[in-house]
Amino acid sequence: MLEKIKEIQQAGLEALAAVASEEALQGWKVTHLGRNSAIMGVFKNMGSVPKEQRGEVGRAANQAKQALEAAFEEKAAALKEAALQRSLQEERLDITLPGRAIPRGRLHPVTQTLREITRVFAEMGFQVYRSREVETDEYNFQLLNFPPHHPAREMQDSFYVQSAEARGDNPLLLRTHTSPGQIHAMRQFAAENPENPPPVRIILPGMCYRYEQVSTRYESQFTQVEGLAVGKDITFSDLKGTLADFARRMFGQDVRARFRASHFPFTEPSAEMDIQCFLCGGDGCQVCKRTGWLEILGCGMVHPNVLRNGGYDPERYTGYAFGMGPERITMLRHHIEDIRYFWANDLRFLEQF
Ligand code: PHE
Repeated sequence: MLEKIKEIQQAGLEALAAVASEEALQGWKVTHLGRNSAIMGVFKNMGSVPKEQRGEVGRAANQAKQALEAAFEEKAAALKEAALQRSLQEERLDITLPGRAIPRGRLHPVTQTLREITRVFAEMGFQVYRSREVETDEYNFQLLNFPPHHPAREMQDSFYVQSAEARGDNPLLLRTHTSPGQIHAMRQFAAENPENPPPVRIILPGMCYRYEQVSTRYESQFTQVEGLAVGKDITFSDLKGTLADFARRMFGQDVRARFRASHFPFTEPSAEMDIQCFLCGGDGCQVCKRTGWLEILGCGMVHPNVLRNGGYDPERYTGYAFGMGPERITMLRHHIEDIRYFWANDLRFLEQF
């Protein structure tokens, strides 16, 4: 009997050595370890083994069965490993193929200019103050010294948000400039301490709207950056010094600036600032229309009425204000000939910046 068990084990191991697939392995298991296998037959026929041999035969049969089972597990693992190696070989990914580039977005050219302006003024101690785009006639015009029917309104025709009947004297409109933010800001600051309002040093960036005949130079929607400084003893020299410094930081250390007298209802005196043309260095070219100078902003000392409307006593406080158009500055810098490109959303244009 012991001899037979040894043979059963031997035969099983030999057959296993020839197994080369998962399928054959399962077949082998049925034949050599299944219910009708030779080794199971030994257990079934234990009754016919003489009593005194049963212990020994049983132990031998168990050992043979365990040996076959262990050999089976080993083979199964080996087959699995081989299959894995094969698939790694055969289904190999070619990772040397270059990937597809992910398109990267970028900031709109006007946003880039806007951020640069903001950075320069931040370095000079100005904070950003945001103000509403839908305004009342009072804030957009009246409190800035444009009474109803004032001729200076002619330059800033508006989009009205209410119907003509609802308008009365104080209709709602889309702001035509960022200047109404001057009043909002001054009133908010002055409310902190009405007897002794704190100094103001802010810039007010944002979108403005005008009912314009759209052309290469005028759009009905554009950005502005307003600036406002109010305090004690602020003079026109402060205005000139600050804006000339801004021009140097923004356009280059040797850029020259000049001021020409101008008029705005909410500043007195008023001026326009030109910088020397950075394209021709002042010699005269197409962009500066052969003058050598580029107009970049309007400015002036805050009118006493405007200070008063903001809650600042013009006997004790003075201030200056300025306003510039980032679109115009962007056009000058990059030689862009048509303002309408900014809103046309043509990637061939936008991708250049
Ligand atoms: N608000 C003026 C405009 O839109 C610009 C300006 C601002 C001028 C502040 C002087 C002071 O034309």
